[in-house]
Amino acid sequence: MERKYPHLCKPIRIGNVWYRNRMFSTPMGGTDIELDGCIGPKSQAFYEYRAKGGCAAVTVSELMVHPSDGSHAYRLDESILNSLPKATYTADAIRRHGAIPSIELSHSGMYAGTYMTDKTKSHGLNQWSADDGVRADGVPYKAMSQEMIAEVVAAYGHVAGLCKRAGFEMVMVHAGHGWLLNQFLSPMFNHRTDEYGGSTENRCRLAIEVLKSVRAAVGPGFPIELRLSGAEFVPEGYDLDEGVKIAKILEPYIDLLHVTAGTYQRTFGITHPSMFEDHGRNVYLAAEIKKHVSVPVATIGGLTDPEQMEEIIASGKADIVEMGRQLLADPFLPQKVMENRDDEIVHCMRCFVCMSERAATGTRRCAINPIIGREDEGMEITPAPVKKRVLVVGGGPGGLYAAYTAARRGHDVLLCEREDRVGGILKSEEVLPFKQEMFMLGESYRVLAEKAGAKIVTGQTVTKEFADAYKADAIIIAAGSSPLRPPIPGLDGENVILVNDQYKHEKPITDSVVVFGGGISGVECAIHMGMEGKTVHLVEMRDDVALDSVIRQRPLLLEKLNKLCTVHTGYRGLEVTKEGIWCQTKEGEKVLVPGTTVICALGQRPRWDVVQELYDCAPWVRVIGDANAVGTITKATYQGHHAALDI
Ligand SMILES: Cc1cc2nc3c(=O)[nH]c(=O)nc-3n(C[C@H](O)[C@H](O)[C@H](O)COP(=O)(O)OP(=O)(O)OC[C@H]3O[C@@H](n4cnc5c(N)ncnc54)[C@H](O)[C@@H]3O)c2cc1C
Ligand SMILES: Cc1cc2nc3c(=O)[nH]c(=O)nc-3n(C[C@H](O)[C@H](O)[C@H](O)COP(=O)(O)O)c2cc1C
Ligand code: SF4
Repeated sequence: MERKYPHLCKPIRIGNVWYRNRMFSTPMGGTDIELDGCIGPKSQAFYEYRAKGGCAAVTVSELMVHPSDGSHAYRLDESILNSLPKATYTADAIRRHGAIPSIELSHSGMYAGTYMTDKTKSHGLNQWSADDGVRADGVPYKAMSQEMIAEVVAAYGHVAGLCKRAGFEMVMVHAGHGWLLNQFLSPMFNHRTDEYGGSTENRCRLAIEVLKSVRAAVGPGFPIELRLSGAEFVPEGYDLDEGVKIAKILEPYIDLLHVTAGTYQRTFGITHPSMFEDHGRNVYLAAEIKKHVSVPVATIGGLTDPEQMEEIIASGKADIVEMGRQLLADPFLPQKVMENRDDEIVHCMRCFVCMSERAATGTRRCAINPIIGREDEGMEITPAPVKKRVLVVGGGPGGLYAAYTAARRGHDVLLCEREDRVGGILKSEEVLPFKQEMFMLGESYRVLAEKAGAKIVTGQTVTKEFADAYKADAIIIAAGSSPLRPPIPGLDGENVILVNDQYKHEKPITDSVVVFGGGISGVECAIHMGMEGKTVHLVEMRDDVALDSVIRQRPLLLEKLNKLCTVHTGYRGLEVTKEGIWCQTKEGEKVLVPGTTVICALGQRPRWDVVQELYDCAPWVRVIGDANAVGTITKATYQGHHAALDI
């Protein structure tokens, strides 16, 4: 067959290992870390899922090489009863689907304890680094002595040997993102005056010793991948020129150079490119470094589109592309690419639910892939014992996902959407350049549902009469929510546009805008208007904005918002006029927030009227997503998937 993306699909040999294509799964922390640091069954399934999806290598996330580090907490230690077996089962689970199992070796250095839920415990750890100092959160750290260095270097080798014994066929040494080896490499962290500090060569010394120790343990031909930030993007850190220099110094000790970017602590939205960044915004780092080294080079960062990834490999910017979030959103991207089924790819929205959920609840999930975090819960799509006639009401994300799952189970599925396009609220994101993936999600889910056999009809409102006549065995009501427009004088005026309706371009938007409502939809709308060069004010009654945003996304939104707009919190909107919104401040003062266009982003209300109308139209009924309670895409897709599994 002729592959549409031949470079991406081309196998590669690194060391003595053969990889089936150029798409690698970068390390992403499992959450099911057992008390003694073993890999729990959920995490094993989390990694196995990506191997099933067809990528060439799956890297298990940070394995802490030394007890001084309690940060990410996987351990491999023969004195822990279950340590080796659990690692071995995990390597097996990846290998049996044809992917190369790899594992990341790390030490957090001064940031030991970063991911511990109980931060007070992290204060009891030995935070080690290049220098003595005190972290921003008050935790002191200690400059490593020669003895400590020797101990950590030996620990890297020891653990690498155990990884090999457990069946891992590659290791990744993490020297980027601000963790210990990066702390030595970087002039931002390293001010030592001994042979480990000062010149670039000296700052590379610890990494070289670690790599030599790992090599001695795993032997020749066993691929060692080095994860290195190509540049740090802060004035005190190193730039790309020095990144090239570091790469050249470390090249003799490695088989694959993985060029990432920045640090977790200082450049989060670049290290994990946020929705405000270009896709592949860090590829140029790998491309430049590749000109100076002869080992294969991998690139990473916001890569979601096979066409772009094919171009990266074809043009020689990198030899391998690595993906993180995209392979949570759609672990089967590599298999779809291999089979020329790229129209079925679900694209990551870069919404950071995945990274935030770990901080919030210690679990992992993805807004648009309901399987993430529950890979081992026996939720495989199995054929339904009895084929049923299923009617799905509403073509938003919840309804579409429900139709997709129900159709895969062999049910006879009809989805009706009353508007002329599916997508529900996702359609409202069409006008926001940084939310194109959210907009595209409706179309991706439609393709998946139709290919699975669901029939989708647009322009068809499901009424009681329609549903009664259709005689479904099961109804999934995914009718979503409608925008709230409280009875505030003037809110029905000509100059007012609902945030959900912007994409319809029914009314002109002037250059002076007031966004009414500071939830996520209002904040993103205000940012968008600001990016277009308009004068934007945002009015919010509460004391803060974007409170419904997730923890890793919110700071990025606020940074943009505060740059581009004037925010008025504690302002209660009293009346909308052609000149703006009259508000009452907390102090009781009446002020006009100026703006000739008002965008109403005051929230949503479930369509309970539709629920009531249709509830008795079939023996089996389930209400999902916003129709049930206004929420998120995460909730709508999860509930849609499970409703369909239950039929
Ligand atoms: C501006 C905005 C931005 C948002 N941004 C985010 C975000 O970044 N991340 C996030 O997680 N969430 C976000 N949300 C919330 C998210 O969009 C919703 O939670 C999600 O769309 C709910 O999905 P749903 O399928 O339940 O409903 P909806 O998306 O509302 O879809 C329901 C569909 O049902 C149709 N329908 C209704 N009645 C009938 C009927 N009788 N017959 C046929 N069809 C019918 C409607 O036309 C609609 O297409 C945002 C919300 C808004 C308003
Ligand atoms: C949920 C999640 C967990 C992550 N955990 C790790 C980790 O344990 N170790 C690591 O080196 N990088 C980790 N990363 C960073 C990714 O490996 C990757 O560098 C980053 O997400 C950028 O790639 P992407 O844009 O393809 O997601 C994590 C990223 C995500 C989204
Ligand atoms: S949760 Fe959001 S950012 Fe994370 S993988 Fe899913 S879509 Fe992408």
